[in-house]
Amino acid sequence: MSSGARPASSRGWPPRTAVVTGASSGIGREAALLLADQNCRSLLVGRNGAALDEVAAATQGHRIAVDLAGPGSEVTVASRASELLGDVDLLICSAGLGAAGPFDVMPPSTIQDLVAVNVLAPMMLVRAMLPAMLERGQGRILLVGSIAGVLGVRGEVAYSASKAAMVGFADALRSEVGGRGISVTLCLPGAVDTPFFHRRGAPYVRRWPRPIPAGLVAQRMLTATGRGDAEVWVPRWLSAAARVHGAAPSLYRRLAGVFG
Ligand SMILES: NC(=O)c1ccc[n+]([C@@H]2O[C@H](COP(=O)([O-])OP(=O)(O)OC[C@H]3O[C@@H](n4cnc5c(N)ncnc54)[C@H](OP(=O)(O)O)[C@@H]3O)[C@@H](O)[C@H]2O)c1
Repeated sequence: MSSGARPASSRGWPPRTAVVTGASSGIGREAALLLADQNCRSLLVGRNGAALDEVAAATQGHRIAVDLAGPGSEVTVASRASELLGDVDLLICSAGLGAAGPFDVMPPSTIQDLVAVNVLAPMMLVRAMLPAMLERGQGRILLVGSIAGVLGVRGEVAYSASKAAMVGFADALRSEVGGRGISVTLCLPGAVDTPFFHRRGAPYVRRWPRPIPAGLVAQRMLTATGRGDAEVWVPRWLSAAARVHGAAPSLYRRLAGVFG
C-alpha cells in the first residue's frame, strides 16, 4: 500500500456538491451532516427512506433510496446527481455491510451480498462518476475501507477480503488518475460505534479497542480528503499495527494470537 500525503491543495475544497452513499446511517450519515455545515449540497444515498428523509431534512440535501447491490444502480445515482447537483466535487462511498462467523459455513448468498455492496457498488459508482470529474480535471473520491482489509480478521474472512479489494482499488485508481486533478482517499477505521455490528447479526465483543464515535471518523476522513491524503487511519495508532503486519508478518501473527 502506498503511504503519505499528496501535496495539500485547496482546489475544490470545501466541496460545493457531494454524493454520499451510506448516508442513512453511521459514518456516512455523520459525513453528510458535517458537509452540510460547510454549505455543501449533497445527494444522500441509502435504502432506508425514512432514515434518509431525516438526514435530508437536517442537511437540506436530496436523497435517493436505492439498493446499491442492484445492477445499474450506479447509473441511477450518477444521473440523479447530475440532474440535482450539476458537477459533483466529492464522492463518498461509505455504504457497506459486515458478516461474521466461520467461513466454511457462511451462506454463499452472504458472500455474494458482501462483494456486491462492499466491492462492486463503489467500483461501479466511481466508474459512473469518474469521467465527468476527469473532464473537469477536478474531483475527490473518498472510499471507506476497514482495518480488516489490511490485517485480515479471523471470523470476518469474507468481509476482510471485500475490504482488501478497496485497498487495491484505491491504490491503483490513485496512481491512474491522481495526476489528472482527482484525489483518492481511503479511510481505514477500526471498530466504530454504529449499527453495523447489530446489522451483521454479531455484536462487537472485544474489550479492547473500544469502538470510536462515527462523528470522529467522519471528521477525520473529511479532513484527510480535503488535504488530498492517500489514506487515513482512525484511530491513528492502527497504522502502527499495519506497519508491523507489513514489515514483520510472523511477529504480527504472534501478537494477534495474544491480543485476538
Ligand atoms: N462500524 C464499524 O466498526 C466499521 C469499521 C470499519 C469500517 N466500516 C465501514 O464503514 C462503512 C459504513 O459503515 P457504518 O459503520 O456506518 O455502518 P451502518 O451504520 O450499518 O451503515 C451502513 C450504511 O450502508 C448502507 N447500505 C448497506 N447496504 C446497502 C445497499 N445494498 N444499498 C444501499 N445502501 C446500503 C446502509 O443504508 P440503509 O440502512 O439505508 O440500507 C447504511 O447507510 C462500511 O463500508 C463499513 O464496512 C465500519
